[in-house]
Amino acid sequence: MDAYKAIVGKRDVRRYLHTPIPAEVEHRILQAGRMAGSSKNDQPYRFVVLKDPERKMEFSGSGNFMTHVPSAPMVIAIVMPDTHLGFDAGRAAQNMMLAAWADGVASCPVVAHNAEYAKKVLGLPPGHHVALAIAFGYPQPEQARSNQKRLPLEEITYYERWGQRQLSGASATMSMANCEPPPGRMLASATCTTMRAGYSGPLKCSIHTSWNGRRSAMSWK
Ligand SMILES: Cc1cc2nc3c(=O)[nH]c(=O)nc-3n(C[C@H](O)[C@H](O)[C@H](O)COP(=O)(O)O)c2cc1C
Repeated sequence: MDAYKAIVGKRDVRRYLHTPIPAEVEHRILQAGRMAGSSKNDQPYRFVVLKDPERKMEFSGSGNFMTHVPSAPMVIAIVMPDTHLGFDAGRAAQNMMLAAWADGVASCPVVAHNAEYAKKVLGLPPGHHVALAIAFGYPQPEQARSNQKRLPLEEITYYERWGQRQLSGASATMSMANCEPPPGRMLASATCTTMRAGYSGPLKCSIHTSWNGRRSAMSWK
């Protein structure tokens, strides 16, 4: 499956077939989690795989919105040290869900609101918590795709600074053209001054070029 299609086509599914997830698919899901990047490559995440119906039922008591968890053939709890940010867990989680989706396996992340209970159920060592868990399973055929909309891109995206929308076509092209180094030229750095929409004065734009003349970084002051 094309990566972009997998990303934009993935919807969280809470109704699953009883079909077990084959060992090789499970392995790919876990590998995808393992390969997630982490801060300083600390790899702080640990994965607890739950398949036993009683364990899943017990674990589902740890969240406020986990009614679908017992029916999922596989649940993976992502465990983190208390000292680490959730971002690393999020990266591992999304990797796993996308790898699963590419293999036809649906999923839904869930939060263990009752952290102490979850910790006890999974027998976690001190200083660790469940960052989140993911329910996995083949989707039921009648499972309607979520129609939960996403906010329009233009509503959630700013350029260069908070609140500033995309420059209109003409001025954007003009200011970029002003700042691009001439094609094929090797430049260590170049600066130019231009006016940008939404600002009252001229701004200095620094371009740092790589050895082959491509722009490698651009900063506005
Ligand atoms: C951090 C996080 C926690 C979530 N916790 C739960 C949960 O506890 N129970 C649940 O049913 N869904 C949970 N979800 C799923 C969200 O409800 C879902 O991602 C959102 O509604 C978008 O759904 P869609 O991708 O199907 O449109 C969680 C999602 C995230 C990212």
